[in-house]
Amino acid sequence: MDIRVLQSSDIPHVQQTNITNLPENYFCKYYMYHAMSWPQLSYVAVDVSRPQKTPYDPPKIVGYVLAKMEEEPSDGVPHGHITSLSVMRTHRRLGLAEKLMRQKRAMAETYGAKYVSLHVRVSNKAALALYRDTLGFKVDGTEAKYYADGEDAYGMKMVLDHLK
Ligand code: ACO
Repeated sequence: MDIRVLQSSDIPHVQQTNITNLPENYFCKYYMYHAMSWPQLSYVAVDVSRPQKTPYDPPKIVGYVLAKMEEEPSDGVPHGHITSLSVMRTHRRLGLAEKLMRQKRAMAETYGAKYVSLHVRVSNKAALALYRDTLGFKVDGTEAKYYADGEDAYGMKMVLDHLK
């Protein structure tokens, strides 16, 4: 499995992966906005076990993390935000999400982020275990009815100072 920076040609495949795995979906231009504005922050996991037969074969994207810098941070502290993360069912529990999430050094080094934030459904046990137990995020609060279907979100944060 290859973990590499998101390229604009990956976007339709990343969008498909997102639609397959999550109810929070985005227009193509929002992916493009991430890729163009913060090119070092979003990554894909590509299954390279089946080589491309022709240069026109699409890459087999099996996971992604879409990340950005918060443009107008309400606390005035520069920080990054994980917009979306998912891994295809066929490729889960192989450590891919952890690897994708560990690529955040550029947030601190390139953009001066002091911490990274994200939202996660309170019922999402797998993602909570990943963020809290594996990666060291802390729950910062609960946002009531954050999601379109009325579910609450945990706001989570992880300090990035130690990466510098
Ligand atoms: N149950 C409990 N703990 C889990 C689970 C699970 N199903 N999946 C992962 N973890 C935890 C474990 O601690 C695991 O370590 P271990 O395997 O050594 O026990 C650790 O996370 C790392 O697991 P990975 O293999 O890196 O995780 P994976 O690649 O399977 O992806 C993910 C995890 C992204 C949550 C995946 O299940 C998924 O795509 N789910 C659907 C989409 C989703 O919920 N995305 C997050 C939404 S929040 C957001 O986008 C900001």
